[in-house]
Amino acid sequence: MKQALITGASRGIGAATAEALGAAGYRVWLHYRSREDAAQEVARRIVSAGGPEPLRISFDVADRAQAQDAVRRLLDEQGPLDAVVLNAGITRNGLFALTDDASWDEVIGTNLGGFFAVARPVVKSMVRQRRGRIVLMSSVAAQRGNPGQVAYAATKGAMVAAARSLSLELAPRGITVNVVSPGLIDTEMLEGAPVKELLSLVPVGRVGRPAEVAHVVRYLCSDEAAYVTGQVLSVNGGMWME
Ligand SMILES: NC(=O)c1ccc[n+]([C@@H]2O[C@H](COP(=O)([O-])OP(=O)(O)OC[C@H]3O[C@@H](n4cnc5c(N)ncnc54)[C@H](OP(=O)(O)O)[C@@H]3O)[C@@H](O)[C@H]2O)c1
Repeated sequence: MKQALITGASRGIGAATAEALGAAGYRVWLHYRSREDAAQEVARRIVSAGGPEPLRISFDVADRAQAQDAVRRLLDEQGPLDAVVLNAGITRNGLFALTDDASWDEVIGTNLGGFFAVARPVVKSMVRQRRGRIVLMSSVAAQRGNPGQVAYAATKGAMVAAARSLSLELAPRGITVNVVSPGLIDTEMLEGAPVKELLSLVPVGRVGRPAEVAHVVRYLCSDEAAYVTGQVLSVNGGMWME
């Protein structure tokens, strides 16, 4: 049975991705940090939709030693992964000049450090298998910028750049690396954001649903996507940029 690790899968886009991959028959490694109740509920939904029982795992992606040890141990105990979705992420909004060291470090450590800590052991394992799918979750904030999100946008832009280079390293090994870049998606992350104002930038005229992002991730993880690598797929209702 295929296996997929999805980080930050207790809520929002990660939870929808876990459900989409569970429905596609993957045994999901359902990762979260603290929301055990929410993770249990996602697992219950996967099973009641006929998917395999997920493996629930908890660690802080910003704690490099803890995250790497956990992923290495899981790979040893549970066997290799077919796909990894590096989705866990946070925002700490505020003007750049007023950003304190702790917020900066937290955003960089979680979004970018978390990518490194989780992806490195997975990549080592996928290289041995000579197959795999890697999907990174970026953001429209990386492409068009957003006042109050300098640290966040920096991490999300870095993921695009990192994915392009990693895709070149891994293409000869049968491993694809792609980025999904959501726009405004209806999750807890949007709480407190000026959604009404921002909607004027979205031609489709509404916020997106987590499942609309999840379906794109599911495609990128599929066998059919073998010739798609190093790409950024935006799921943003036409909210454009560049
Ligand atoms: N929502 C949007 O409009 C939007 C737009 C563009 C990009 N994105 C990106 O999409 C991804 C998912 O966003 P979302 O809106 O679904 O977020 P969300 O609803 O806030 O969920 C965040 C998830 O990440 C986990 N997480 C956060 N910090 C963590 C840490 N240090 N260690 C381990 N897990 C951690 C949370 O786990 P716990 O709940 O257990 O703490 C939760 O499962 C993020 O990378 C975000 O930047 C979102």
